[in-house]
Amino acid sequence: MSLRPHRDFLNISDFSAHETFGLFALAERMRAKTYDRRPLTGMALAMIFMKSSTRTRVSFEVGVTQLGGTAHFLSPRDVQIGRGEPIEDTARVLSRYVDGIMIRTFAHADVERLAEYAGVPVINGLTDLSHPCQILADILTMRQHLGEIRGRTVAWIGDGNNMANSWIEAAAHLGFTLRLACPEGYDPDPIFMAAAAAGDVQLLRDPREAVEGADVVTTDVWASMGQEEEQKLREQAFHGYQVDSALMARAASQAIFLHCLPAHRGEEVSADVIDGPQSAVWDEAENRLHIQKAILAVLMGRETL
Ligand code: CP
Ligand code: NVA
Repeated sequence: MSLRPHRDFLNISDFSAHETFGLFALAERMRAKTYDRRPLTGMALAMIFMKSSTRTRVSFEVGVTQLGGTAHFLSPRDVQIGRGEPIEDTARVLSRYVDGIMIRTFAHADVERLAEYAGVPVINGLTDLSHPCQILADILTMRQHLGEIRGRTVAWIGDGNNMANSWIEAAAHLGFTLRLACPEGYDPDPIFMAAAAAGDVQLLRDPREAVEGADVVTTDVWASMGQEEEQKLREQAFHGYQVDSALMARAASQAIFLHCLPAHRGEEVSADVIDGPQSAVWDEAENRLHIQKAILAVLMGRETL
């Protein structure tokens, strides 16, 4: 038995463009501390982490607490899901205790099944396919540093991974240009590319072409969680795809550098870029807290947009 309806956040387009701009405005009130409601009072969020996390775990935990609720960290070492209890049963049981579930895992289909069987909102805290909370935080950071995002150009350099897929979805959905430079064999998901056909999303090979005049230059690790054994192979494949100061110099003079973190200095980004004046990565990490509080307030706390 499915316990719908409830609203989930599994991918960027689960909120309309209008609602997404409302989320940014709400998150900006939270960041400015002009929002003082506690819409999660008496509520609980279960947080399932099948992969490691620093930012996602702490920002959700602190965010729920600031909104008046409690957060419950569940790792596969401790809960039965790690011993093979079906995701459908986990969804139904947790829904009897908590008011929302955040999950970070490998297969995106697991999150879809969790959402199908849960009676409470489910939030995607990263899968192999997408990382929508991070991309909303990244766009919040663009607004903070650059103002209006419509008409801006974002350059993605490196792996066509979960981050790239969510950037693709966001560009078409929210109206900015995205140029991706990925080595052959490391393209983004073709379904996300096809869905973005109406938007201005270009897949290139040459990082220099992608960053030319861009307002944002962004990248991510070459080997994501679960791909650790491919590290050496990927270091070869991504040769020439490092975001260094020579590449940044081709972007707009006021361009910012973003990275979801954790970063590997000397691989996908040089230390002088990530630690330099154009880097906005610490604001970006902070913005995870603000945007997720806005998402939680809307999905669990019935805050209106
Ligand atoms: N960017 C991000 O999701 O970081 P964590 O893996 O630390 O949660
Ligand atoms: N692409 C990275 C993002 C980490 C936040 C990974 O999936 O490991």
